[in-house]
Amino acid sequence: MNKIAVLTSGGDAPGMNAAIRAVVRYGIGVGMEVFGVERGFQGLINDAFIPMTMRSVSDIIQRGGTILKTARCLEFKTEEGQQKAIENLKKHGVEGLIVIGGDGSFMGAKALTDRGFPSIGIPGTIDNDLAYTDFTLGFDTACNTILDAINKIRDTMSSHERVSIIEVMGRNCGDLALYCGLCGGAEVIVVPEHPMSIDEIIKCLGCNGENNKTSGIIVLAEGAGRASELKEELLKRTDLAVKSTVLGYQQRGGSPSYRDRFLGTCFGVHAVKLLAMGVGNRIVGIKENRIYDMDIIQGCAMKKKFDLDLYKMAQVVSR
Ligand code: ADP
Ligand code: F6P
Repeated sequence: MNKIAVLTSGGDAPGMNAAIRAVVRYGIGVGMEVFGVERGFQGLINDAFIPMTMRSVSDIIQRGGTILKTARCLEFKTEEGQQKAIENLKKHGVEGLIVIGGDGSFMGAKALTDRGFPSIGIPGTIDNDLAYTDFTLGFDTACNTILDAINKIRDTMSSHERVSIIEVMGRNCGDLALYCGLCGGAEVIVVPEHPMSIDEIIKCLGCNGENNKTSGIIVLAEGAGRASELKEELLKRTDLAVKSTVLGYQQRGGSPSYRDRFLGTCFGVHAVKLLAMGVGNRIVGIKENRIYDMDIIQGCAMKKKFDLDLYKMAQVVSR
């Protein structure tokens, strides 16, 4: 392939810029022309193609967000939208596309592949909700951001002998809550994959019982409920001083961690190598510390397994 394009789609994630940089520089390095497409699939439809140079991606590896912007595009779900996108790709002579995004964006890449346009997916989402890869781009940075918040909130909860509920993102996936709860020493982790009754939550807090804790942290995955509602329940049922914080969009921004810069770079180079061999229809990931790729349809059909052992371990070590 001589001409390829790259876009970012869906929710942004720290490390997307590292991946764009790697695609552009590695692609140009092996003799390709590389286009950046602005605003995800919307940019394919609106013809927002930018010829990229080595310098277009200077000074971005350390930046959160995505220099190509991102969007959610309903029109791309229609046949007409997809046809317009392919016409524009062909107009620029582009022969292969790299899509950086989550499972929704991968469905878009699959739709293009089904129409005979080779596309490769790179997993970019803080949610870590894709089964075929151990980690997605952005998850590590988001975990560090959440841990920083947990540490700060714990300081003040501890001084005032209060309990704090911290609601984190993740859509229907509890990984952000699980990993950050474990590493932040949360007394309770509430995730959609392993529902907990209010009585269990109160027992795990250990404030009124055998463990003599005087303060505590509950990390609540957004997919398992609202912090404000859980707070009301706890205030009704206990005499604890309960506070709540919704961490919100700060979890999606910030300078990417070492790990996300590393993953973004490796994923980007791997994706270009596939297109250079004329291979499409694949998604790139990391399994047991090895960068690999697999069939887009098989990968998207895999069901993510919740790590119950890790969850139980977190419960034991937080008592
Ligand atoms: P994410 O990629 O983070 O999961 P979304 O689920 O919002 O984010 O999907 C991002 C975009 O991918 C959508 O706005 C749409 O343009 C495209 N997309 C999602 N599902 C499909 C589909 N079934 N067919 C074609 N395009 C899709
Ligand atoms: O998928 C990433 C994510 O940040 C989720 O954790 C969250 O539920 C969602 O995106 C928020 O999306 P929006 O940008 O539409 O508010």
